[in-house]
This record gives sequence, C-alpha cells and structure tokens, in this order.
Amino acid sequence: MPIIRLYCNISDWEPDFQQLLQCLCRIQKDEISRLKGILTLNDFKLSVVGRLLLRKAVSSSLSVGSNCLTFARDSRNKPVLVKPARYEDPIEAVSFNVSHQGNIAVAVSAIRYQQHRVNGAHYEEVVNSIGVDVVAFNCIKNTRDIVKELFVYKPFFNKEEWIKILHSKEPLKYFCRSWSLREAYVKATGSGLGTNLSSLKFRQLEEAEDTDIVCQSTRLVVNSALVDEWVFEQSYLEKNYCVCVAIKNYKSEFGSDYRQNRQQNSNTENESRREKMFNFQGIEIDSLLASVTPLREYTEDQEEVFQLLKLFF
Ligand SMILES: CC(C)(COP(=O)(O)OP(=O)(O)OC[C@H]1O[C@@H](n2cnc3c(N)ncnc32)[C@H](O)[C@@H]1OP(=O)(O)O)[C@@H](O)C(=O)NCCC(=O)NCCS
Repeated sequence: MPIIRLYCNISDWEPDFQQLLQCLCRIQKDEISRLKGILTLNDFKLSVVGRLLLRKAVSSSLSVGSNCLTFARDSRNKPVLVKPARYEDPIEAVSFNVSHQGNIAVAVSAIRYQQHRVNGAHYEEVVNSIGVDVVAFNCIKNTRDIVKELFVYKPFFNKEEWIKILHSKEPLKYFCRSWSLREAYVKATGSGLGTNLSSLKFRQLEEAEDTDIVCQSTRLVVNSALVDEWVFEQSYLEKNYCVCVAIKNYKSEFGSDYRQNRQQNSNTENESRREKMFNFQGIEIDSLLASVTPLREYTEDQEEVFQLLKLFF
C-alpha cells in the first residue's frame, strides 16, 4: 500500500449543527475534549476535518475499518495509534501525521514496513517515520517590504538559508516552502518545540515554480553533514498553499530504494511522470464523512457535545 496523502478544502463547507454532530460522533471523546480550547469556527472545522482525514488515511493504510482505530498522544502531543490490538505494537505498525492551516487540512499515513511480490520478485517498502506541514501563502502579509515582515522568523533559519530566502524570486513563497520543510521534519521526528531549528539546513536545489510538480530534490544538512535517510516531497495545493511531506528511511512505492532512484534516474520524462504520482488526493467533506464510520451515536441532548457546538451556533 503506497503512502496515503489526503487533503480537504473547507472553504465552501458551511456545516449546520446536525452535520457537525455527525462529524463529532466519528471522533474519539478525548479528542473532542481537545477541541474545547478552539476559538473560531474555521479552526474548529479544520481540527475536526484533520481528525477525520487521519482516521480515513490510517484505516486505508492498515485496511481496517476506521472505527477499529484508537489514537492516543505521546509526551509531545503527537498522535500515535494504540489500537487495533491485532498489531503487536500498533505504534510501530504505521506512521502518520496531520496539518491544517487557512482552509486546508492534510493527512498522510504509511505502513512502516511491508513486503511485496511483483512479477515473482520480493520488494520491501519501508517508511520509518512521516510528517506533514501545510502552509498558506497568505499566512504572512505580502507587502512591498516583505523582508521586514519575515524578519521575526530569522532566528529559526540558518544564515545561508535565510539569505536564499531573501534573494529568491518570490521570497514569501520560498519562505513558506522553507518553513514547511522544518515543520514537516520536526513533526516526523515528533520533537516539536524541542528542536533547534536553526541547526537544520535545507538545501533546496529548485525554486519549484511549476505548481504541478512534486519537488524531491531538497536535502537536509545537519552540522555540515548530509542526512541522506530523509526525503522531502514539496508541492503546491490549489496554488495558494504549499505542503511538505518529510519521510525517513524511504524505500519507494516503485519497488526500489527511493534514494537510489533519485540519484540514478536521469531520464527527466520518467522522473516528472513519477513525481506527479506523489500528489495529494483531494476529498470532499461528504465523501469524507461517508468513508469514516461513526464511533457512537450522539443525540443533541448530550451535554458535552452540545456545549461545544453551542460555542459556534
Ligand atoms: C507540533 C507543531 C510542529 C505543530 O505545528 P503547527 O504548524 O502549529 O500545526 P499543524 O497544523 O501543522 O499540525 C497540528 C497537528 O500536528 C499534530 N501534532 C501535535 N503535536 C505534534 C508533534 N509533537 N509532532 C508531530 N505532530 C504533532 C497534531 O495532530 C496536530 O493537530 P491538532 O492540533 O488538530 O491536534 C508545533 O506546535 C511545533 O512544535 N512547532 C515547533 C517548531 C517551530 O517553532 N517552528 C517554526 C518553523 S520555522
């Protein structure tokens, strides 16, 4: 099973009370409690959709019903899988992650280790860990003095990268791509705020102006050493967003080590055809709801959910 990459755009979604209730009955109770601190309806919708996308993505990876899955959080708040119990160690079975910003929520999921048999030959697919980050280009005002707007983020970047951002053709876009690289990486490692971000250097070999292409040429350098076990897939979603998937120890969906392919495949036509295959799959909210099985029935008089939804209606 290849890596699952899903996204949902919520900009046209105007849920009524009943539809949100339908969403909440598909989300674990402890995760509903986490939604309580959310202040705006937009953030609420994004967080709800993120949780639904995650259930769909992980259940597709594992080929189990979404209602069989139980998630928990690790010490750094990263969602982890604790059930189905048929896996000896569910945390080790699958790696996944979620991100949301603006009007977009994304989720990625991959089985950590699989063996395939294709035309009599055995292939391994290994994804040690995976992280994702989506960034809206309008998250920062694109004023004439964009350098000033970006200045506050300077401490998160190493000097060389920062100079590249400022001198790129489109500093805001380049900045967002650089930001998403960092976030996807820290989310894959799960280290979150504990990471010294300026110690990471992402060598982006392309500005990637073609919005249809998934760029995979970026390399990570830590303390001057190339960290070759990481692959970064950078692409655009609906033109106004960039998304990055960080994948550790990637052995590919194509039956051989992705990193070797990356170096050996000089046939650009093949390369770009293959790159397009990595794109995210968009899903409408109705199909998302239809593909995630309810965990329980909610009736409107259930106090906790009612109180939560009342905040927005
Ligand atoms: C954890 C962290 C990476 C989340 O990033 P974010 O951009 O705020 O939010 P995203 O929408 O991308 O991701 C949120 C989701 O990530 C997941 N998540 C939470 N903690 C996580 C962690 N430690 N590792 C991986 N994923 C995590 C959750 O599913 C969360 O969804 P929820 O809020 O609906 O529960 C962020 O809080 C963090 O630690 N950032 C530190 C890095 C930093 O300072 N970056 C500056 C970059 S230049």
